[in-house]
Amino acid sequence: MLKAIILIGGPQKGTRFRPLSFEVPKPLFPVAGVPMLQHHIEACAQVPDMKEIILIGFYQPNDELNRFISSAQQEFKIPIRYLQEFAALGTGGGIYHFRDQILSGGPAAFFLMNADVCSEFPLQEMLRFHRQHGENHCGVLLGTTANRTQSLNYGCIVENHETNEVLHFVEKPSTFVSDIINCGIYLFTPDIFGHIGTVFQRNQEELTNGKQMPEVIRLEQDIFTTLAGQKKLFVYKTQYFWSQIKSAGSAIYASRLYLKQYHQTHPERLATNQDGTPKIIVNICFCIVFNFFLSIQLGANVSIGKGVTIGGGVRVRESIVLHGAVLQDHCCVLNSIVGWDSTVGKWARVEGTPSDPNPNDPYAKIDSETLFRDGGLTPSITILGCNVNIPSEVIIRNSIVLPHKDLNRSFQNQIIL
Ligand code: GDD
Ligand code: GTP
Repeated sequence: MLKAIILIGGPQKGTRFRPLSFEVPKPLFPVAGVPMLQHHIEACAQVPDMKEIILIGFYQPNDELNRFISSAQQEFKIPIRYLQEFAALGTGGGIYHFRDQILSGGPAAFFLMNADVCSEFPLQEMLRFHRQHGENHCGVLLGTTANRTQSLNYGCIVENHETNEVLHFVEKPSTFVSDIINCGIYLFTPDIFGHIGTVFQRNQEELTNGKQMPEVIRLEQDIFTTLAGQKKLFVYKTQYFWSQIKSAGSAIYASRLYLKQYHQTHPERLATNQDGTPKIIVNICFCIVFNFFLSIQLGANVSIGKGVTIGGGVRVRESIVLHGAVLQDHCCVLNSIVGWDSTVGKWARVEGTPSDPNPNDPYAKIDSETLFRDGGLTPSITILGCNVNIPSEVIIRNSIVLPHKDLNRSFQNQIIL
């Protein structure tokens, strides 16, 4: 039997997602209309013999997480549990701390996934690849190709081209190492815990030298780097889509990737053009509940939450509109996230700058840039926090508006407190 673990981090992580992560833990932020984590869970639930999904993080248990877990359990008919770390134990420390629970029932192998990635999750392919490579290794890493410059922002893998064995692993190197990057999706055998245990013991011995908590273990630097070149790790390269979700801008990009996939996997989640419904330019959209006006144009890449009201003449493109928002007549929302219960007034324009990967480079990834560059705000998508009020006829561009703000004029390139 198999299990799956998802590392969901905690409140100190995902700061590039603020102010949206103030309202909902980042792993539950809706991407293509469903919480980010649901895409992982759905993929896991499709793997035959999958017995349990465990979320590990350092969030205090909260209503939102509990509600999500119970509804996902019902929908996907699989047990899901949340295990809370007593502190941020790093990407390897959490699974080691909870190893008894992971190994209970005797799984032959388990998947481990970072929550902040979007992917087609080729889990069954990874399982086949793992079985083809015999019993003696302890893990398969999912890899994808990046361009030389961007590879430095990820874990980099050097492989043996014939056997796919991982020969070297370097986490976020400062100079070029390899264009195969680590996707943060793994398949491990229980043997991995032996190797993490060795690092834990070493950490304990070094404790006297003023080292931090011995329980903090980084899978990438502490484990992969050592196991590389020992025939213990293999890399399975995917040709399918994969992206990190670090900034709010990358959530819009990730939505686009999933919405495209919905044509095959969930056509029922996409809105279609029917008489009496708004004109949808590319039929990409999600759960629309609003007043019907024929002149509304939505898409491409628009996700609309439940209970959103959209007035006549509204145009929305490349955006996420969260539940309870109101888009009044003739407003225009481009490359933006409109927060829960926010209102965009009549003829107002809310616009951001997309940070999409270079379309001419097949291996380009989205850049999750820092908020500031050269002393100024980096032009990016516009984010309206929850319950923001944009009056009629104003323009908000490349700005981040914190929650509960009533604006009274136009703004650009600002963080509005
Ligand atoms: N439970 C738990 N506890 N989860 C954690 C902790 C922790 O202490 N620290 C990080 N995580 C989770 C995060 O929520 C995220 O889902 C994942 O682990 C990775 O987080 P980061 O530590 O921010 O690493 P990264 O995203 O910059 O890089 C990792 O992912 C890249 C792919 O997206 C590395 O694995 C890279 O090698 C990889 O290329
Ligand atoms: P943002 O960069 O804030 O969007 O978060 P992220 O999830 O992408 O994580 P990243 O690795 O970029 O680290 C974000 C912040 O969290 C940095 O200030 C790190 O020092 C801190 N951080 C990373 N790992 C840990 C951890 O295991 N424990 C704690 N307490 N902080 C961590």
